[in-house]
Amino acid sequence: GLAGLTSALKLANHKKVLIVSKREILDSSSQWAQGGVAAVMSYEDSIESHVKDTEFVGSGLTDPKVASFVASHGKEAIQWLTDLNVPFSRDDTTHEFHLTKEGGHSHRRVVHAKDATGKAIQTTLVERVKTHPNITLLENHIAVDLITEKKSLKVEKIKSNRCLGAYVLNNKTGKVITVASQETILAAGGVSKVYLYTTNPDVSTGDGVAMAWRAGCRVANMEFIQFHPTCLYHPKAKSFLISEIVRGEGGLLKLPDGSRFMDAYDERGELASRDIVARAIDFEMKKHGLDYVHLDATHLGKEFLQEHFPTIYARCSALGIDISKQPIPVVPAAHYTCGGVVTDLKGHTDLPGLYAVGEATYTGLHGANRLASNSLLECVVIGKAAAQDMLKHPLASIPEVPAWDESRVE
Ligand code: SIN
Repeated sequence: GLAGLTSALKLANHKKVLIVSKREILDSSSQWAQGGVAAVMSYEDSIESHVKDTEFVGSGLTDPKVASFVASHGKEAIQWLTDLNVPFSRDDTTHEFHLTKEGGHSHRRVVHAKDATGKAIQTTLVERVKTHPNITLLENHIAVDLITEKKSLKVEKIKSNRCLGAYVLNNKTGKVITVASQETILAAGGVSKVYLYTTNPDVSTGDGVAMAWRAGCRVANMEFIQFHPTCLYHPKAKSFLISEIVRGEGGLLKLPDGSRFMDAYDERGELASRDIVARAIDFEMKKHGLDYVHLDATHLGKEFLQEHFPTIYARCSALGIDISKQPIPVVPAAHYTCGGVVTDLKGHTDLPGLYAVGEATYTGLHGANRLASNSLLECVVIGKAAAQDMLKHPLASIPEVPAWDESRVE
């Protein structure tokens, strides 16, 4: 996803980079992200306010130093993406970035590309990756295990248990290849696919977190899985998110009789943080024996809906739901893994030579619950910091590593 691509592009002018992607390179949660990238861009907003919102939504378990580091690099992250030509939405008259709002944010600070921000970012970055002479892309290859000194070099005393690369399965041939590398970055995403209802693609199966754990890394806060309040409920639609920016622009949650219920749970109503809204929906569904609740955006008008939410409008239309005339049936669904492989602000894990970035990690930013659109921001900020650290502190050449042992395949 975005974190891995950021690191790869930041490294590629200085080093040879191999990207291993479980399926096609665009098959990631970043690609599916709708809302956007949280960043302090307006004069009314401030870094302090972004940090405060992050901590509040994280239920007191966010590390304020981490929140402050990530929030203070927001503008720079947006500048880098803009320089790469990511087509963020702009205000028609001022031509400044159009800033939208999501739950838990006290200001409009979500920079977005209509309702398909992840797709706009990923396609732009992937184009760069595919044409960069120093980057090799191995699609449809899955990393099955990390190679570490402890496991692979039969030496008596291991000083550091350095990571030496990974064993990688070619999904098409069924053969495992041995990839020896001076440094390895784990950017393998979250675990939400273990749940029946999820907004995530099939690849979000947590194998990166498991691999790091097996190799000896600490893993933290895996109990904090964020449920997004509004996933489309439709027998034929798999995992389709109805972005929080629909509520940010005025969409209302209703019961089938047309009555609203969010004000009874939180004074911020539909824009309370995700945990509160998801729990409220779940409670109402159980109380009334419902399969779903309604997200009503009909009052926003067809023109506005088509202009701001073209992806959601088209997907719902294809399923027979005209969102300018009918409310959208929605349910909460597993959305984001707040915990993961423990890293510092430079992506260091507990193993020398192994970095981790993106949703696979626990940096301390998200606490018990992630503030909307902080994840793409974290991807760029930590993805870049990890690459910079790697360039600044290159490790010694690696020893020869043993080839994959076929007897491990049962
Ligand atoms: C959304 O568009 O509602 C999701 C954004 C996010 O998860 O940060």
